[in-house]
Amino acid sequence: MRQMIRRPETRDHVGNDLKMDAHQRLQTKFAEIFGSTARWFRAPGRVNLIGEHTDYNDGFVLPAAIEYYSRVGVAPRRDRKLVLHSETYGETVEINLDDPQPTRLHRWTDYAQGVAIALAHSGKRPRGANLLIEGDVPIGAGLSSSAALEVSVALALLANSDIAVDKVEVAKLCQRAENEFVGARCGIMDQFTSSCGVRDRALLLDCRSLDFRLLPIDPAVSLVACNTMIKHEVASSEYNTRRAECEEGVRLLSAFLPNIRALRDVSPADLEKYSGALPDVIYRRCRHIVTENARVLDAAAALEAGNMERFGELMGESHLSMRDDFEISCHELDIMVEMAVMMDGVLGSRMTGGGFGGCTINLVRSDAVKKFAGDIAGCYERVIGPHPEIYVSRPAEGAGEFLIAPREIQQR
Ligand code: GLA
Repeated sequence: MRQMIRRPETRDHVGNDLKMDAHQRLQTKFAEIFGSTARWFRAPGRVNLIGEHTDYNDGFVLPAAIEYYSRVGVAPRRDRKLVLHSETYGETVEINLDDPQPTRLHRWTDYAQGVAIALAHSGKRPRGANLLIEGDVPIGAGLSSSAALEVSVALALLANSDIAVDKVEVAKLCQRAENEFVGARCGIMDQFTSSCGVRDRALLLDCRSLDFRLLPIDPAVSLVACNTMIKHEVASSEYNTRRAECEEGVRLLSAFLPNIRALRDVSPADLEKYSGALPDVIYRRCRHIVTENARVLDAAAALEAGNMERFGELMGESHLSMRDDFEISCHELDIMVEMAVMMDGVLGSRMTGGGFGGCTINLVRSDAVKKFAGDIAGCYERVIGPHPEIYVSRPAEGAGEFLIAPREIQQR
């Protein structure tokens, strides 16, 4: 039988901890490539439970970090180069830290280079380094593999340069790398979650003030991401278009509401009142953001009250709003959600992340996960075609250093 569930690499099929072996392999690999030992840093991917595209509208999001990571080993170099080896891409690339005109290559290296540049621009000049990068956050699945890469590289470069920076600042620097060098106008959610995530908790994040509250996720519930296996080419251009449409909404509404700075400041009642002044598409984009912000706050209250039924309803409403008003879903995501909500043990389901493909996030009772994963994979494959990967996780701790014990100590 085909393996339905992809579990984090650090656990075997019955959940035993394989970490030490896996980590030891990393250290050996680093020594083979760079001839020294390394310090190791990791940063997780994330799922967003509710609050989509609200981050760059100064609104609210409710994500959790997941037990899939980007890992980076780092050791100093005497020159001004970053030498990056990616296990995922099987290649080594050199970056000159003093390049007066760094250019984007439209490849994975842009994230690392963007981070190095953002650090330098903020007065945290990174030293030369050898870096080995590997990880298990699926790429292009909407689970923030790029934020995980950025944050893990940032921690490695900072530590290698003896510079201490707090977690929130790391998230901001990585967002800046993505906005300014990579060229995606993303909000702060992904980098913030990867940097500041807390084990067993979701984060209710106010993307304007960056204040956040930790909300417990019932230990009997798992986060299950189902990958439609659709990678839409249009995703990044459509993302920037949505952002521009939201800005246009603020511009038009500020004629009536002079004090607003972002859609976060618009109430559902005010939006309805001035809807006549907005073209239909702009109105619907604004309606998604304004109602989604309200749903995030309702969902947080439901979670705190242990009312998972209400939480699931809000996830459902969020999906419809993304499908109909914000138009960032696609046929495969809709089908995946429709199938999931019919299945036993599913408390809620919606698409997660930027949209146009990628994953749905499902809250599933842990005792029902195995059957759910098999059933949804089978149904999706029959109806749509590709075999979907399923990722199961509990909310994970955010980025940090991990220690690899020397061989002798471990074998004792
Ligand atoms: C991407 C972006 C985030 C956020 C989500 C949508 O993941 O990187 O900043 O806007 O899309 O909620």
